[in-house]
Amino acid sequence: MKDSAHLFSGSGITARLRDGRSVTVRAATARDAGDVSAMHVRCSTETVRHRYHSVPPMTGRFLAQLLGTEIALVAVAPNQAVVALANLGRDDGDAGELAVVVEDRWQRAGLGSALLDHLVGMARLVGYREVYTVGLPGNGWYRTTLARHGRTRLERSDGHDTMRLWLRSPPVRLPQRLGATAA
Ligand SMILES: CC(C)(COP(=O)(O)OP(=O)(O)OC[C@H]1O[C@@H](n2cnc3c(N)ncnc32)[C@H](O)[C@@H]1OP(=O)(O)O)[C@@H](O)C(=O)NCCC(=O)NCCS
Repeated sequence: MKDSAHLFSGSGITARLRDGRSVTVRAATARDAGDVSAMHVRCSTETVRHRYHSVPPMTGRFLAQLLGTEIALVAVAPNQAVVALANLGRDDGDAGELAVVVEDRWQRAGLGSALLDHLVGMARLVGYREVYTVGLPGNGWYRTTLARHGRTRLERSDGHDTMRLWLRSPPVRLPQRLGATAA
């Protein structure tokens, strides 16, 4: 959480991955559009499809939306290539959707989990009540990763699984009139 607070501003933090490689994680800016687009080109179709549930063209408008979510983080390799993107977009209200994509060559080294952990930490800091991830069925990664942070609920619908994580307890419902529950 302390580290996550540093990500709201500044030059970012260094994350050392399980395989010994390091990346800098920092807030994304509009200037990252070209590098974020290039990362998507290097990703497999499978990776892109799992993130967006389709293979969207990387138009300027789409990239601006990606980089303009309430919180957007990039992981930058030592050669300055963007190798992962993490987003938290606020719904109306105090809930928001989390999403992460890690370039194939950088997967399975702990980067996706580290980014998701930062998004959850930042969501707590700015007062989100709940965050959720919408994934294709069979994509179990976010379920285990989100469940590490607290109480979760899985909702299955046609073609999608939504995993919700409560960051604050739901309000206790009091009886409308004091004594309303007394017999
Ligand atoms: C899902 C994703 C973000 C994970 O990133 P990552 O950097 O590989 O994640 P981590 O290395 O932190 O993974 C930690 C654990 O999650 C599980 N995991 C990782 N990728 C997985 C996958 N594709 N399927 C099932 N479990 C997976 C594993 O248990 C892994 O630990 P292990 O390597 O010791 O087995 C990455 O695979 C990706 O970008 N996928 C496409 C987009 C996507 O599905 N995003 C999630 C929904 S928004």
